[in-house]
Formats: sequence, structure tokens, C-alpha cells
Amino acid sequence: MGCCHVDFALLEGSDRGFTLGMPTFTFGPGVLAEAGDWARELGLKRIGLFTDRKLAGGEHVAKVKGSLATAGVDVAVFDEVRIEPDDSSLKAATRFAAEGRFDGYVSVGGGSVMDTCKAANLYASHPAEFMTYVNAPIGEGQRAPGPVKPHIACPTTSGTGSETTGISIFTLSSINAKTGIISRRLIPTVALIDPDVTRSLPANVVAATGFDCMSHALEALTARAWPRRLNPAKGVARPVSQGANPFSDMLGIEALKLVGQYHVRAVRDATDAEARSEMMYAAMLAGISFNASGCHLPHGLSYAVSGLTKNWRVPGYPEDKSLVPHGMAVVLNNPSVWRHTAPSSPRRHLHGAECLGADTRGARPEDAGEVLAKRVIEMMRATDMPSGLAALGFGEAHIDALATGAEPQYRVIKNAPVDVGRGELESLFRAALKYW
Ligand SMILES: NC(=O)c1ccc[n+]([C@@H]2O[C@H](COP(=O)([O-])OP(=O)(O)OC[C@H]3O[C@@H](n4cnc5c(N)ncnc54)[C@H](O)[C@@H]3O)[C@@H](O)[C@H]2O)c1
Ligand SMILES: [Fe+2]
Repeated sequence: MGCCHVDFALLEGSDRGFTLGMPTFTFGPGVLAEAGDWARELGLKRIGLFTDRKLAGGEHVAKVKGSLATAGVDVAVFDEVRIEPDDSSLKAATRFAAEGRFDGYVSVGGGSVMDTCKAANLYASHPAEFMTYVNAPIGEGQRAPGPVKPHIACPTTSGTGSETTGISIFTLSSINAKTGIISRRLIPTVALIDPDVTRSLPANVVAATGFDCMSHALEALTARAWPRRLNPAKGVARPVSQGANPFSDMLGIEALKLVGQYHVRAVRDATDAEARSEMMYAAMLAGISFNASGCHLPHGLSYAVSGLTKNWRVPGYPEDKSLVPHGMAVVLNNPSVWRHTAPSSPRRHLHGAECLGADTRGARPEDAGEVLAKRVIEMMRATDMPSGLAALGFGEAHIDALATGAEPQYRVIKNAPVDVGRGELESLFRAALKYW
């Protein structure tokens, strides 16, 4: 590829191309009201609509249902999506999907809702034992055998970008850690991204999801470059996420500039419509970017943090169970990871910091990790994030368990720009205990 950056020079034996996937998406205030038109366009007559209990009686679901009703589409609602889904909640959603005999789906909610809809659509379309499609080595990692039903995704949070990805993430109860199902087939058919939904978001949800978006973009930018990816599959079997590439760079960089400019404002002021709308746009860009390149260490480490945290509750999230918001678990590992990975690609780490608004004048390559870590910490402090894993109750005594929890996350860990073994995992968690 003559057009690409030197980082993407082809190697002997490397894949010769990369494959990109994304939905047909519409962005703009009020576009939730287009759900009915899109359903009709897709030829859908009977739809399974997924949402969560909190959103079920609210204005966003009402708008989508009203639009579907006007279009003459028959709708059955499933509102038992679990926030931060697990295998049992996905199985319940699958039963609903299979029994409903729907010809398509609509999801209205955050990542928890959209991911549940994707998994239910897959298992109802291609019934199989649950571990069949779950990522290897935790599950069998089998490819989805054929197309799934059309899915119109309507995100109501500004962070996961799940409306653009072929990824469904859940906690596997038997190992008490997150894993996922990944397939190009899971990319929603249509995404309706309506920034008006952000008006009702609690500040804590904006804070956590905005950091999820930031980390997606930073991880996309610093992932192993695609000609060096370790999974050899090519053609239609090429993995969804193939390492950093020119396309993921382009969108990740744009997302980081928006996050640097608008994230803190969006958290601090619910009436700042510009900031909240720009974060919704950034989440979409970062979603397309990391879907193509893949996440790496901050997400890999976060899955152990989410699984092992006890008694942690955050206003704005369901308080009937201990729960670390996904974006919070991710950002808590960010500074530690950037300090470790920056020597592998200092220019990319410095560029990420600069996009986020750091002053990089005079910074030397060896300063890259610290400059990026410092900017992320500044944003964490400005949005009242915990000061490190210790604030969640972790200490030296838990490092071993955290490293054990992260070890099975090979899918993402191997996408890191440096090789990471057990010792490095322990050091990364240790360095994430307390930042200030
Ligand atoms: N599939 C992917 O590509 C991908 C990417 C990142 C994260 N995830 C997953 O997504 C999940 C997290 O999703 P999330 O961060 O979007 O949050 P969420 O869906 O878990 O929702 C968080 C809380 O916000 C509430 N909420 C949602 N929209 C609201 C609105 N507009 N107004 C008021 N309250 C609202 C929900 O009811 C819930 O209480 C995790 O399981 C994570 O692992 C998936
Ligand atoms: Fe994420």
C-alpha cells in the first residue's frame, strides 16, 4: 500500500489487506423518530425491541415505539436486559428472541442493551450451545455460520460505540470475568445516533462512558500495527479487529480531539448540549476505529477489575448489586498502561496526548508515556474518578488474583504493541493502585 504510513509497511508473510465493517448510520438530533422508516425500509413487520428497566418507561423508548407504530410495525418489548450483562441474562434474552419469531430487532439503550440484542439475535438465528461463539480460548470461538436478522441500534449513552461494532461483551459467571462474542455479522444493520438522548444522562454515566470512548481511541491508535497481527486468518475469515490501520488511525485521532475538548464539559454541565452531542459523535468515531483495530491492555485489564471488585456502587447505575461502570474500570488502568507501552511507539503516544489537549512542546520520545499518563490523570481528576484501583478496595494482596483474571484475555492482550506476560500484568496492576 503506497498510501500508508511507514508503521504499516508490509512484512514478509503478512496479510496484504485489511477489512472494515460498519453499519449504515444516521447521526443527528431527533433521528430516533426515523426508526419506523428504517424498519419499513428493511422490510420488517414484527420486531423484538430490547431495552433496560430504567429506560423502558422513558422518553427515548417511547419515541422509538411511536415511530415503529406509525410505520405499522408490530413490536414486542424485552426490558430485562442486565446492566453489564452476563451469560444468564443473555440466555434469557435469547429465549425471548427465539420464542418471538421476529424478523428483526431494535435496541434502545447503552452498551449493555445493544450487546444483549446482538447476542440474542445471533443465538436465535443460529441456535448453538452457549460457548460455541464465545471468544477463544475462553469459548470455542466458532464463526457465526450465516447472516443474522436486521438490527437497528439506537444508543442512549455516549461511549461504547457498540452501535458500530461487531462485538458483544458480557461477564461469564463461571470465571467471573468479562469476555465476548465477535463477528462481522453482529455489526448492527442501521445505527440511529441521536445526541438528544444525552440530555437525560447522569453525570457519572457521562464520565465513565466518555473515558470508555477515550480508551477505545487511544487503544486503536497504539494497537499492534495490522501487518504484524498474530491471527493468520485471511479473506472472509479475517478477524473483525486487525490491529492499527490507516482508517482506524484517522477516526481515532478525530475522536481524541473531541474527547480532549468536550469530555470534562459534558460531565460537568448537563445543559451543555454542544459538549454532550460532540461526545456522542466521538463515541461513534471511536467505535468504528476500535472495531477495526481492536482494543488492548486497558480493556484486557479492566475485565479482571470488573469481575473482582466487591461492594462498589455508583449513582446513576443500578444500585442493587456491586458494579464498576465499564469505562471506569478501563480508565483506571490507562495511565499505568501508557507508561509501559509508550517506548514501543512514542510518536503515537505523544500524538494521542496532543489530541487530548496535552502540551507536548519540547517533549522527547522518552517522555511520551508520562505526558499521556499525566493528561489522562488530569481528566480523571476533573471528572471525580477514583484515584486508582486502591480506591476500589484493591491492594498488594490482590495483585495475583487480578493478573490471573486478566491472563485469559488473550484476544485483547495480544493486540498490545508490546508482549506482555504474567510479570508485566502484575506490574501494570501494581502501578495502577494509586495515581494521586
Ligand atoms: N460492544 C462493544 O463494542 C462495547 C464497547 C464498549 C463497552 N461495551 C459494554 O457495554 C456495557 C456498558 O454500556 P454503557 O457504558 O453504554 O452503559 P449501560 O448500558 O450499562 O448503562 C449504564 C446506565 O445508564 C443508564 N442509561 C442509559 N442511557 C441513559 C439515558 N439516555 N439517560 C439516563 N440513563 C441512561 C442505564 O439504564 C444504566 O443504568 C458494558 O457491558 C461494556 O463491557 C461494549
Ligand atoms: Fe470499552
